[in-house]
Amino acid sequence: MLERSQVPTPSHDPKAVEDAIVDAVNRLRARHPVEAVGIGAAGWVDNTQSIVRFSPHLAWRDEPLRAALAGRIDLPLIVDNDANAAAWAEYRFGAGAGTSVMVCLTLGTGIGGGLVINGELFRGTYGMAGEWGHMVKVPGGHQCECGNRGCWEQYASGNALVREARARLRAGGPQADALAAALGVGPDALTGPHVTAAAMAGDPQAVELLADVGTWMGLGIADVVAGLDPEVVVIGGGVSAAGELLLGPARQAFESTLTGRGFRAYARLELAGFRNDAGLVGAADLARLALREPPDSA
Ligand code: BGC
Ligand code: NA
Ligand code: ZN
Repeated sequence: MLERSQVPTPSHDPKAVEDAIVDAVNRLRARHPVEAVGIGAAGWVDNTQSIVRFSPHLAWRDEPLRAALAGRIDLPLIVDNDANAAAWAEYRFGAGAGTSVMVCLTLGTGIGGGLVINGELFRGTYGMAGEWGHMVKVPGGHQCECGNRGCWEQYASGNALVREARARLRAGGPQADALAAALGVGPDALTGPHVTAAAMAGDPQAVELLADVGTWMGLGIADVVAGLDPEVVVIGGGVSAAGELLLGPARQAFESTLTGRGFRAYARLELAGFRNDAGLVGAADLARLALREPPDSA
């Protein structure tokens, strides 16, 4: 990675997101000989890899993202789902290298999913495979931005971590005071990295908050593994910065829930080699491969 340019996502206006992408490309292009652009979009990219059909966390609805960007960026350009891009990076150069069935899950705002089978990204019939974040794990549970209640990502994501930490702070009392002191920030300004930092510094409540997310993670991974029998499940996204504080509880819940346990091998649970950068690396590599080969034979 030669350089990074990062801006907050303007979540309520598709045009503003496009502007931000074009600006970032132009900024980097002015400083490096860029040959192609890869977009990892946090949404449901169709099977022509052109249109973002829907996004729970962004304003994209049937958004012709590829055409819109192609009109403004005169370089070869590919669009894929953000977690597919992350899965691809981990398969090519990271924790999933050399495996024949690999699942990648990214924990950030939501849960993203990507699947690589025999060296190819598996996108499903309509382009939308791997949306495990929206499996209903708790019928009638927390409302999800996708319209359902009780989606897995409402329990195992950066958003879930922040929601639960806020609930503890707002409950008041001595425990809330102790947690507030450890976090060093109030409920409104709280972000996931605050909780991770406090957990890493040893605060017991922050450790519990991450363990809860990890446990939910492991419970869902047991479902994913029951269906796909991968060799490795790679965990990336912002929350993966918590490392074993997340992965330990996830592994424990997974291994005590996986069907057939005791009579089968367990998929390995591993942190993404690129951590939260996997999506960037994967999108760039997909764009690079598309330059060399037509996408469907890549
Ligand atoms: C979306 C996915 C996306 C993931 C991570 C989920 O809520 O449905 O398309 O990959 O968040 O950004
Ligand atoms: Na995906
Ligand atoms: Zn959902």
